[in-house]
Parts: sequence; C-alpha cells; structure tokens
Amino acid sequence: MALLRKINQVLLFLLIVTLCVILYKKVHKGTVPKNDTDDESETPEELEEEIPVVICAAAGRMGATMAAINSIYSNTDANILFYVVGLRNTLTRIRKWIEHSKLREINFKIVEFNPMVLKGKIRPDSPRPELLQPLNFVRFYLPLLIHQHEKVIYLDDDVIVQGDIQELYDTTLALGHAAAFSDDCDLPSAQDINRLVGLQNTYMGYLDYRKKAIKDLGISPSTCSFNPGVIVANMTEWKHQRITKQLEKWMQKNVEENLYSSSLGGGVATSPMLIVFHGKYSTINPLWHIRHLGWNPDARYSEHFLQEAKLLHWNGRHKPWDFPSVHNDLWESWFVPDPAGIFKLNHHS
Ligand SMILES: *[C@@H]1O[C@H](CO)[C@@H](O)[C@H](O)[C@H]1NC(C)=O
Ligand SMILES: *[C@@H]1O[C@H](CO)[C@@H](O)[C@H](O)[C@H]1NC(C)=O
Repeated sequence: MALLRKINQVLLFLLIVTLCVILYKKVHKGTVPKNDTDDESETPEELEEEIPVVICAAAGRMGATMAAINSIYSNTDANILFYVVGLRNTLTRIRKWIEHSKLREINFKIVEFNPMVLKGKIRPDSPRPELLQPLNFVRFYLPLLIHQHEKVIYLDDDVIVQGDIQELYDTTLALGHAAAFSDDCDLPSAQDINRLVGLQNTYMGYLDYRKKAIKDLGISPSTCSFNPGVIVANMTEWKHQRITKQLEKWMQKNVEENLYSSSLGGGVATSPMLIVFHGKYSTINPLWHIRHLGWNPDARYSEHFLQEAKLLHWNGRHKPWDFPSVHNDLWESWFVPDPAGIFKLNHHS
C-alpha cells in the first residue's frame, strides 16, 4: 500500500513537471518576435525614402502643372509624393485631371491653400497683376502644408524636369541653411544668357534702394540675386528660424512702405526671399535650374545646351503653352491633355 502511494506521488510529481514544461514553452514562444510576418511588411520598396515635391496648380494654367509632374515622374525611379496645391474651387478639377489621365499612377496629395493668410500682405498695384496670384506665395508656407518630411522640393509650375529628381533632392544643405536656390550669377553658358534683354541678376533689380528700410539692411545692391522657382528646403531649420514669419513681416512692410522695385520681372515672391535668405542659403547645381526661357520669344538657347539641362524654367511672360514662346517643343512632349477639354495649347503662328 505504501509502495503504491509512493508511485502515485512520483507520477503526480512527473505530471506537474510536464505541465510546467509545456506552460513554460508556451509562454516563452509567445515572447519570441515573429520574424516571418515582419519580413513580409518590410519590403525594400517601403524602406526607400519618399521624395516630397510641392507644385501649385492654378486654375488657368493647370496644364503647366501636369506637364511638369509628367516630366518628373517619367525621368526617375525614385519614390515621389507630389503635393499638388490649389485653391478650394479647383481641387476637384486637379483630382480629375490626374485620375483620368496617364498620371493616375503617381503618388499624390491634393492640398488646399487658403488665400486668407495673405490678407493685408500684398499690394494690389503690381505692374504684373498675374504675379499676385495667391499660389505664388505657397512657397512661403511650406511647413504648414507638409508635415511628415524634413527635406522638401518646391517647383514652379512652368518647369520641365529632364534629369532624375533624386539628384536635385540630394543637394546638400549646409548646416544652418533652411533652403537652397540657384544663384543668378552662377548661370552657365553666359553668352546665351547675355543675349536675353533686361535680365536682372542683382538685388538692385528687386529692392528699392531709395527706401530707408532697404538701405538699413546693409546689403550691397550689386549682390547676386537668386531665383526661388526651384527650392530644396529643410523644414526643421525653416521652422527653427521662423522663416515664414520673417517673410510675412517683409510682405507687410512692403504694403506699408512700397519697398520693392517697380521694374519687377522676377515676381513679387522673390523680393522678401532675397531679404530673408541673404547670405544664408546653399546653392543648387546650375544645370538644375536653366531659366529665362520665357523671357524673350526671339532668344533661343543652343540645342546642345538645352540637352544638358536637368531642369528648364519658362519664367517670364512667354509661356510655352502660349504664343509666342520658344522651345515649346521641349515642353509639349510632356503635355498631358485635359480630360475636361478646358486647357488648350495656343500654338498657331
Ligand atoms: C529572426 O531574425 C533574426 C535577425 O534577423 C535572426 O537572427 C533569427 O534567426 C530569426 N529567427 C527566426 C525564427 O526566423
Ligand atoms: C535639417 O536641419 C536640422 C537642424 O539644423 C539638421 O539637424 C538636419 O540634419 C537637417 N537635415 C537635412 C536633410 O539637411
């Protein structure tokens, strides 16, 4: 009897030990990270950096935006997220154009810009009223439109990209610089540029040096200007330096004191940027901002030079979708027809 009891106790003991082992294994297994499922969600494609590109789509020239997007998307393997910025009443049309054309494959977000933020900050008496289009000032508000990215590209709508946008994105910003621009004295092939009439490339062309507020800045009027139609920006640094607030301050000051040159060819958005970023910007490879193609319909660049260019900018009055203009063949090859049939090319001669 005593032996039987002993055997029972041993069996019970063994049973408990077995249960403990099973339990231990179960608990332990639960804490082992599940590699398999993790592996599936982390494909290399998703780890690739996303390049945010901000571009405006104004009602009358949405065709420009779509051609620019098409050129960027077609010339890169990079993972791009387009932020297409418009005013409220155009947002549906922007979406339709993208979703009902060959652009339907792009990654994009449509962002509304509320022009109320500009109230009291722009003078209504500009010699070129078209430059007062509220979307011209979107570049002042980049951190308000973009939240998840530190480094951002901003492009004017009247550009065509011929290079891989990854290269532009890889532009190095010096420590403490909130942005990089293309310098107006850096332009390659100077004899091409010099043929273009009335070109401004110094601060004098943008700021009225007779005004005290401008003189007090202590910036030499012969300082080279830059063109903010192509920007690579660091949002962390932009916020840190409160760039948007500084730009707004100079806009307001201009409303009160009319500080900017009246011969403005470069646009109302340029002058405040020249002041705020003076001596504090990095530079973009000049081939990434070949500009003034819209300056003079009689001045043509050499074919070789245009082929070398990574980005072409038709700044000036003569847009490549209108007549007269130059090198519109280069622009037109990226044109995406308007599914609504509203935007039309105007190329009769
Ligand atoms: C889990 O991943 C680690 C590191 O990648 C690896 O060393 C380990 O062998 C993996 N375990 C299993 C069960 O796949
Ligand atoms: C952006 O600026 C911050 C603050 O100066 C800096 O730490 C960061 O490295 C910069 N990022 C890029 C991509 O330049």
